[in-house]
Amino acid sequence: MNIYTFRDEEQFVQTGANLISSLLHTNPRAKLGLATGSTPVGLYAKLIEMNRQGLVSFAQTTTYNLDEYVGLPENHPESYRTFMNEKFFHHVDIQIERTHVPNGNAANPEEECLNYDKMLEEFGPVDLQLLGLGHNGHIGFNEPGESLSGGTHVVELQEKTRNANARFFPTLDDVPTHAITMGVATILKARQILLLVRGEDKAEIVHRALKGPITTACPASLLQCHPNVVVLLDQGAGRLLV
Ligand code: F6R
Repeated sequence: MNIYTFRDEEQFVQTGANLISSLLHTNPRAKLGLATGSTPVGLYAKLIEMNRQGLVSFAQTTTYNLDEYVGLPENHPESYRTFMNEKFFHHVDIQIERTHVPNGNAANPEEECLNYDKMLEEFGPVDLQLLGLGHNGHIGFNEPGESLSGGTHVVELQEKTRNANARFFPTLDDVPTHAITMGVATILKARQILLLVRGEDKAEIVHRALKGPITTACPASLLQCHPNVVVLLDQGAGRLLV
């Protein structure tokens, strides 16, 4: 694992954006696995800026998002499809039909999961998978527990996760109870993983994930098994690593 800690927010964001843009310079058709949440927002903004300046193009890129809430209409302001459209896709030269987010409204969510994995099998693996980290150690919506699922699956969100995401909804009751998420095996198939973590409140879980035992009780600890992981941390998140 290559772990970098940044004092400066701008450098943190620029380093992530440079990694993605140099991948796309080498391989304009690279497949990107993308994440939502507050952590990558600055990175997407930087990539939009670089795209406008002609420094990077997404014209031939295909993207696969990690997850989506079950039961929110696609155009709901808090659906991950809306998030990606508003924070990234609608502002760069990407072809929207090449962007994939699991369909949380599929009549048969289990079938949707199988189809998502089939698509990744056929067209993947992704060249770079972007990840954030949940306070409970989740990646995607792979919640800690006695076991983890390998493939894309429907998951019941833990209270900690629903509480953390309640800030985006009018009330806690409005936060969906289920989501579709890529599984850990799907995530670990990516050629490279780029994990971004910000904030002192994540310092403890960062330490457990990167330096603790590899355990399903902390799904992000499985990233220690991957041969090509880059971790970018701000000073708060990296506080316990020194
Ligand atoms: C989002 C996702 C989640 C988030 C994690 C951190 O697609 O899969 O695992 O990355 O919950 O969220 P933030 O960045 O909001 O702290």
